[in-house]
Amino acid sequence: MAEYVRGAPEVAVIRMCNPPLNTISDVMLRALSEEVNRANIDPTVKAVVICGANGKFSAGADIRGFSVGIEKNTLSLESVAALIEKSEKPFVAAIEDIAFGGGLELALGCHYRIANMKAQFGLPEVKIGLLPGGGGTQRLPRLIGIPTALDMITTGKYVPATEALKLGLLDEIVEENPFEAAIKLARRILGQPVGPRRLSLKQTPKLPNMEAFLHEALLKVKKQAPGCLSPEMCFRAVEASVYLPFAEGIRKEKELFLLLLTSDQAKALQYAFFAERISKKWMLPNGASWKTVSPQPIRKAAVIGLGTMGQGIVVSLVKAKIPVVALEKDKKHLEIARKAIKASLERETLRMQQKGKTLDIHKSKLLHFTLDFGALKDVDLVIEAVFEDMVLKKETFCKLSEICKPEAFLGTNTSCLDIDEIASITNRPQQVIGTHFFSPAHVMKLIEIIRGQHTSPTAIATIMNLAKMMDKCGIVVENCFGFVGNRLLSSYTEQTYFLLEEGSTPEEMDKILEEFGFKLGPFKVSDLAGLDVGWKSRIGQGLTGVNLPLGTPPRQRDGKRYSPLPDILCENRRYGQKTGKGWYLYDKPGGKIAKSDPWLHNFLQNYRKAHNMTTRTITQEEILERCLYSLVNEGFQILSEGIASCPEAIDTIYLNGYGWPRHKGGPMFYASEVGLPKILTKLQKYAEANPDIPKLQPSPFLQKLVTLGSPPLKNWPSLVSPQQSKL
Ligand code: NAI
Repeated sequence: MAEYVRGAPEVAVIRMCNPPLNTISDVMLRALSEEVNRANIDPTVKAVVICGANGKFSAGADIRGFSVGIEKNTLSLESVAALIEKSEKPFVAAIEDIAFGGGLELALGCHYRIANMKAQFGLPEVKIGLLPGGGGTQRLPRLIGIPTALDMITTGKYVPATEALKLGLLDEIVEENPFEAAIKLARRILGQPVGPRRLSLKQTPKLPNMEAFLHEALLKVKKQAPGCLSPEMCFRAVEASVYLPFAEGIRKEKELFLLLLTSDQAKALQYAFFAERISKKWMLPNGASWKTVSPQPIRKAAVIGLGTMGQGIVVSLVKAKIPVVALEKDKKHLEIARKAIKASLERETLRMQQKGKTLDIHKSKLLHFTLDFGALKDVDLVIEAVFEDMVLKKETFCKLSEICKPEAFLGTNTSCLDIDEIASITNRPQQVIGTHFFSPAHVMKLIEIIRGQHTSPTAIATIMNLAKMMDKCGIVVENCFGFVGNRLLSSYTEQTYFLLEEGSTPEEMDKILEEFGFKLGPFKVSDLAGLDVGWKSRIGQGLTGVNLPLGTPPRQRDGKRYSPLPDILCENRRYGQKTGKGWYLYDKPGGKIAKSDPWLHNFLQNYRKAHNMTTRTITQEEILERCLYSLVNEGFQILSEGIASCPEAIDTIYLNGYGWPRHKGGPMFYASEVGLPKILTKLQKYAEANPDIPKLQPSPFLQKLVTLGSPPLKNWPSLVSPQQSKL
């Protein structure tokens, strides 16, 4: 686990070897401590370099054994960092590529740190519900000060070597492997006292307005992930570095770490971390899979339709350094899009520069704007993002089929339409695939990758690879109306409208769901996204508007309960923020601050009267259960239909595309934590009270799982009937 060699006659080298990322385990800690002791007692050794094998320093503790040392009271990471720091011989950390979590904490125990240009640094424990428990919360603020240390520790963000040098986290950076430079540095400092380099002996640098700063910082941390414990505990630990001596600060760090380690939230966040990895591993019933199928290269792509989504998709492709042909239907829209994309790319360039990366949009000639379909003849992939209209989509794909080279892949960004129907118009249905990005597409991580009945495994592998190149999370799902995410969402929003009819208010429901952990409640989300988006879709489905058959009861469609409330708002041009009013009132069109709107409350009262509905007081419990349990119920249905391969895929989609609070794991994980029997019983109760709402009828798959004694979530896919398993 740790090699001990000589780097120079008086310099010992301890090399961490735990491929591929030199993660820190119990065994590694023991080996490190033995080698540190060996160097300490060898009189011929005057300085020590610590480095990592395999071109990496260390990715930190293995997430599966995160409690290394601390829980079992064996050797802890902090005790090894302290052992290094206490040495009378200078220790130099030679950091290649990554020093994350425990890896960085070990480096903070060293007296000097040197890294290559490409190296990245971070303490990401907060993201999995923990805090850096190896002394990081006490040493880092002493080294780089409270503001930056707090930012790094409470967000888990990574900083590049150039920034780390400016912050004082590093003593030097070099172009390539820092090993030789570390040996040189070690020889240069021989004989110099190490006392002044021990971080535990330093004070955290004071700020003139420390209390006010910490007060503001805490508010920011709480806002960043409402209801999530780990950022606040990270804050508390770092705060201790200001007010407590080092040893007491370490005790506080340990106490808070143990509190988090056993929390439900850490379990949920770690589940979410693994769920993303599990759900990327797609496999088809014929055995084709992520392992066996190679992606085709995308040397040049095209995006058709440069509205809200098309613009973001273009930016994502350019960021991945893929040349893009960007096509619109007329000059006016092309110019609007050109300006918006340019501005967005400039913002991205700035953002990437701050992260130490480059994106030279001017030199790279990555973008070609056009009105001419002929410009698409040599692209490897087209992503269509025109209006959500089957006729228009089919027209577009028919043209693409004629113009694009036969091996080009054709993706559609449709949010719910039938991929097979779109593919049927082309001469290459095997190359047609759903590429469902989320808004704003250059920010949101998720892409639902929809497999039509003819979509080839190569098309799937290629789009999965593209997602990776764009630093996004691709999840393969089957074709059905709304796919996975929008199906879950519509179950949830449908309940919010029904509850509104029955007596609740947007303010009340938003508050309850925000307290549950959503950053924005459903009505604020609807105002932000624009009520007209769903309205157009409902008009298209004939649920409202001119296509609605005369005589259709206002609150019923196909014998099921229907709420026309969002349609009526749209008919009154209340589209949300963009028109200055929706479920809330805004100071102006485009305004962002939601205020309660007396018009809406008055309207709701009249609406209830007109439909002979008695307003009732609805409990918080009922609001939460009807919204969330109907959502997870749809998840069980999706699983049983084989639309998603596993609950982890559903959770990853909902976490990355729909703002489900990460510290609650994902809807299916949440269901397993609440307990399937409870969810079933409650759904049965609500279904009985609302026989005209089919989405409250418990899914037969949920019933089957309860009958089987609620097996653990990881076993659910194996219990789906084999005829239904498509992924
Ligand atoms: P949008 O209305 O903002 O943009 C559509 C663009 O397509 C317009 O700029 C229009 O000029 C252009 N266009 C129309 N016909 C064209 C043609 N024949 N040739 C070239 N360009 C043409 O629509 P948005 O919101 O960007 O949606 C696009 C697609 O993405 C739809 O299928 C939608 O369902 C889907 N989607 C939308 C999301 C959203 O939040 N807005 C989220 C995910 C998917």
